[in-house]
Amino acid sequence: MNNDTRPIGVFDSGVGGISVLAELVQLMPNEHFIYYGDSANAPYGTKSLDEVKELSFEIADKLIAMDCKALVIACNTATVAAVSSLRKKYSHLPVIGIEPALKPAVLNHPNSDILVMATHVTLNQNKFLNLLSRFEDQACIHTLECPGLVEFIERDKTDSPEFAVYLRVLLDDYRNTPPSAVVLGCTHYPFAKKQISEALYHIPAIYDGGNGTARETLNQLKKHNLIAPKDMKGSVEFINSNGDITLSQSLFNKMMEGK
Ligand code: DGL
Repeated sequence: MNNDTRPIGVFDSGVGGISVLAELVQLMPNEHFIYYGDSANAPYGTKSLDEVKELSFEIADKLIAMDCKALVIACNTATVAAVSSLRKKYSHLPVIGIEPALKPAVLNHPNSDILVMATHVTLNQNKFLNLLSRFEDQACIHTLECPGLVEFIERDKTDSPEFAVYLRVLLDDYRNTPPSAVVLGCTHYPFAKKQISEALYHIPAIYDGGNGTARETLNQLKKHNLIAPKDMKGSVEFINSNGDITLSQSLFNKMMEGK
């Protein structure tokens, strides 16, 4: 039965999860989404696991209080820190997390160099280490922490010369023999896709987990009979802990234009 008009809550440490939101809206245009960006506390990727967990619970509580029928953690870092405890606490609704899209990258580029870019927290937790161990004998997988990258996106500075220099230095080791594929294991990084290729002097195949997360969300909604009526007009509502939603709206519009 398709008759659940309640919103779907989506959250991230800031504006990054808007790359996932765009996939969700494209796949489910008649759903109502509430996007919560915690830019006042970004970045999460350099915080302790407990801090990320606590911040994730605070946001989840707010979204649940707004009567959300499902929660999408549009943040790889918050997913490794909090998804299992959030699922325990909110066992009455689907909680969907995201993970670096390593599987499709390895399947499409076996025995090749694959670079996974993500935060310190994501790359050092068991959730990712287990994923890595499943695929490490099928490709040559390199991992790269990117401290500072999220801040450029949060400050809307991806077109600045400083960002180009930052990326050139960050990707220095990969320019001579560039990877066949790059996995963007942080939801902020798709906003720097073009600049990452430019810094590598090479256009690799680029993978992110946004589309897979959107498909999994749709599956969960179907499974739990939570789909919105077909004739409902979908919408997106932005909330940001820093009180300003201008950047959220403009990044969302940009992402949707590219679809
Ligand atoms: N966008 C987040 C992720 O997917 C977190 C980035 C951060 O705040 O460090 O990992």
